[in-house]
Order: sequence, then structure tokens, then C-alpha cells
Amino acid sequence: MLDQRITDLLNEQVAKEFYSAYLYLAFSDHYEEAGLKGYAHWYEIQAQEERDHALLIRRYLHDAGCTVTLGTLAAPDVQFVDNLAPLQAGYDHELYITASINDIYATAVELHDFRTMQFLDWFVGEQAEEEMNASKLISDMKLFGDSRGLYELDREYSARAYAAPSIMVAP
Ligand code: FEO
Repeated sequence: MLDQRITDLLNEQVAKEFYSAYLYLAFSDHYEEAGLKGYAHWYEIQAQEERDHALLIRRYLHDAGCTVTLGTLAAPDVQFVDNLAPLQAGYDHELYITASINDIYATAVELHDFRTMQFLDWFVGEQAEEEMNASKLISDMKLFGDSRGLYELDREYSARAYAAPSIMVAP
């Protein structure tokens, strides 16, 4: 059993991760409708990863004997002025998720909840990767996003393959 504060924060994080999936599906819709199927594909994969993050936390709560309480998801704001805007919104969103994971970690430290700290270690590393990926999407589009370059980038992103998180795959 976990402290109620940790349980509440992790339940909120489940909703945040599902919202991330929802947000990235909205990005994917934007790119699909703009004719950029590679970016649309990239964000579909990203949405799958976010769903996995939510399921990992849900599983952790169940395995710890805690009650899982699913929250409400808001509709994402999809008023994008151009093709760069979703990428910037994605980077900002990842910073928000990193801060949220860090807050849970800080609470676990305060409560001497070493089990949750160990569980969250994977998420700390994952967030570093997520921020790096989101940042690269922005710099690539700024550097190479004129018409021919954007075509090439779109082809590159169409090659992204889904891989389940390493801690989700049985050894
Ligand atoms: Fe689950 Fe992109 O953080």
C-alpha cells in the first residue's frame, strides 16, 4: 500500500499521460489534414507511447494494492497557426510532464517511499528523452522546414517504429 498523497498524485499522472496521448492525436490530426503523413505517423506513435506510460502507472497502482481512479480528459486546443506550432506546444507539454514527474518524485523522497522512487526512475530517464526528441523536432523544422526540406523530414518521420517501453516488455 502506498501513502494516499502518492496514490493521488499517481492517479492524476495516469490522467495526464492519457491526456498527452489525446493531445498528440490532435497533433497527428493536424498534420494528416495538412498532408504531412510522416509527422502524423510520428505523433500517432507518440500517442501510443503516452498510453503505455499511463498503463504502466495504472499497473503500478494495482500491484501496490491501491485504488485506481480515472480522471476526466479535456479536449486539446487544436488552433495551430502553422506546422511549427504543434511541435512547440509538444515541447512545452513535455516540460510540464517532467515537472509533474519530478513533483511525485519529490513527494516520494519526503515520504521515504523508496519503491515509488525506483518505479519513477524509468520515467525520469524517459522524460529526458522526450524533451530531447521534442526539441529536435523543432530545430529540424526551423533548419530544414522549407518546402523540399519539409518533404524529406516528413519522409524521415514516417519511418518511426513503435516499441513498447523497456520496462513493459517481459525479459
Ligand atoms: Fe509520458 Fe511524453 O511523457
